[in-house]
Amino acid sequence: MLNRRLFAFLSAALMCVAAHADETLATVTSPNQQLVVTLQLTGEGRLAYRVDRKGQPLVNASRLGLLLTNAHQLDGGFKLVGQQTTDHDDTWEQPWGESRRVRNHYRELMVELSQPGQGGRAMGLRFRVFDDGFGLRYELPAQPQLPIARISDELTEFDIAEPATAWWIPAGEALVLEYPVNRTPLAEVGLTNTPLTMRTKSGVHLALHEAALVDYAAMWVRKVSGQKLRAQLAPSSSGAAVFKQGAFFTPWRTLRVADSAGALYESNLELNLNEPNRLGDVSWVQPGKFVGVWWEMHLDKSSWASGARHGATTANTKRHIDFAAANGFRGVLVEGWNLGWDGNWVGSGSAFDYLKSMPDFDLDAVAAYAKAKGVRLVGHHETGGNVARYEAQMNAAYALYAGLWVDVIKSGYVTDIGTAQFSNANGNGTHFGFTESQEGVRHFVRAVQEAAKHHIAIDTHEPVKDTGLRRTWPNWVSREGARGQEFNAWGDPINPVDHEVNLVFTRMLSGPMDYTPGIVSLNGAGDRKLNSTQAKQLALYVVLYSPVAMVPDLIEHYERWPQAFQFIKDVPTDWETTKVIRGEVGEVATIARKDRRSEDWYVGAITNGEARRLTLPLAFLTPGRRYRAEIYRDGDHADYRDAMARFDLVAEHKIVQSTDTLPLNLAPGGGQAIRFTPTP
Ligand code: NOJ
Repeated sequence: MLNRRLFAFLSAALMCVAAHADETLATVTSPNQQLVVTLQLTGEGRLAYRVDRKGQPLVNASRLGLLLTNAHQLDGGFKLVGQQTTDHDDTWEQPWGESRRVRNHYRELMVELSQPGQGGRAMGLRFRVFDDGFGLRYELPAQPQLPIARISDELTEFDIAEPATAWWIPAGEALVLEYPVNRTPLAEVGLTNTPLTMRTKSGVHLALHEAALVDYAAMWVRKVSGQKLRAQLAPSSSGAAVFKQGAFFTPWRTLRVADSAGALYESNLELNLNEPNRLGDVSWVQPGKFVGVWWEMHLDKSSWASGARHGATTANTKRHIDFAAANGFRGVLVEGWNLGWDGNWVGSGSAFDYLKSMPDFDLDAVAAYAKAKGVRLVGHHETGGNVARYEAQMNAAYALYAGLWVDVIKSGYVTDIGTAQFSNANGNGTHFGFTESQEGVRHFVRAVQEAAKHHIAIDTHEPVKDTGLRRTWPNWVSREGARGQEFNAWGDPINPVDHEVNLVFTRMLSGPMDYTPGIVSLNGAGDRKLNSTQAKQLALYVVLYSPVAMVPDLIEHYERWPQAFQFIKDVPTDWETTKVIRGEVGEVATIARKDRRSEDWYVGAITNGEARRLTLPLAFLTPGRRYRAEIYRDGDHADYRDAMARFDLVAEHKIVQSTDTLPLNLAPGGGQAIRFTPTP
């Protein structure tokens, strides 16, 4: 007993000494003064940062540092050399996006440090603090003390002060990013991908992520203890996770901070932390919708492989081109057009040829037919994760497509985690690795850069996560990077009823997603029934943003449900402004967006399995103007659990103005989509 007391006393005393030994090096506040980031040095010269919000702790003192395999760690023994604070406030324009104008308003703190014990080795820490969050990154100058850095891991921690609920998907598992979203207490998170969304007990909404992931390994995050999380770099197959020569900086480690789920979504933190557009005039990057030879293969009605069931035939593609032309869609995606789909391409891709088509697909004839009808083919490059093989053909493949009037390519990297194939450095043979590794990240960026030279935009499936690079390379128009609609065709299980309303406040924080909404037939293969009403499929076009959006269902299904199809034809994919009217993570989302090319507004509302009787104040509309509201809502009997009632869709219209309020009655698993057009 006595010993225990003595021990408690001694540790308290020691903690006191340690606390006193902590030295505050620098402090930086957000423009509105509410967020305060403090950099500290512990007794051993270790670095830590702390974040307070409105005077309350938000992130407890959390460690900073890098572990190296070829030199002493960048941790401990630091001394302050200098610091500088600057202010920044400007507004930039997105060539396409959820909103045209983005305000970039922050206060920056640059801290220069040295490690005298390591020959005066230098390291910088840059913090940018915004009203809606902050980013921090490590910056290493070129120096003889560290000509090469092999970074095995990061010591960066995020110790969230208040108890919180977390929404997350596992990292380092077979399906990479394609898991349903978990909801658990933050203390029960395992190894997670980012964005990691959190809501604290007092209602603060947080999202931990990264920005500007270039030439570096992706950051996973793992629970260390309590609510303390630590960065973990995606592994390399050749030693340390990251190899750097000369000067370098890391991606930004970011935390969005907001009072509501809606404000969390509206934040542009990561975009602001990316470099401005490097491509100059990108008027050749055109948003739009596309149909395609796609869902039929996921339903197993036809095949990617050659033979009698081959989907990508000349005739079938022309049928889709006619359908696109007749209904005003910009593009037609054709998958399975090229050689290499026979046999088991998943995770090998060893036979893919990006220049040669299947015998029953006449690429030149199809391309000419499309062009004559004013429709763009959407190119397709599935790699099966064989990056090495793709890189060898990539440039020629882009040139081929560019010559055929193709300006968007959907690429794919279907393989289990850690089994992508990369070329060996000496040019001989290949090795396996992670798409989220430094070499994987390099490949994705290289593909986008090369495609830009041919004026081609890229929509990456099975990508590395989005970290806002669309700002720098605006031809990186979309990605999958989460569990998409295709799981509803063949998944076991299919997507749960709260999936999309989870995605809005998790995956969608990182950027556009090619989810492929709009399965109006509401059935997958076999007896799979989508956990959705028809109205919800329409609302997803507004709620889940992508500048290139697929209209994926079979032609005969759109012909069978013309009411639903009308909204899909009307809805644009590029927005002037976006406002989240209502949001609760995993529960409900109502988003209003104004079209970039007209005065129309669109609203999408979706719910999880719960019915909701909500209201929609129309204050976002221009005052004094009358609008025709075309409403696509769940009927009174609509319910995702009932085979027939899922199709209970009511299409009606009303004349409204900004002072009105519309009812939003959402069925279980339901939604509502509305188009507002000014009346003459
Ligand atoms: C997975 C993609 O997500 C899907 O859209 C595509 O059809 C298949 N890979 C084949 O490339």
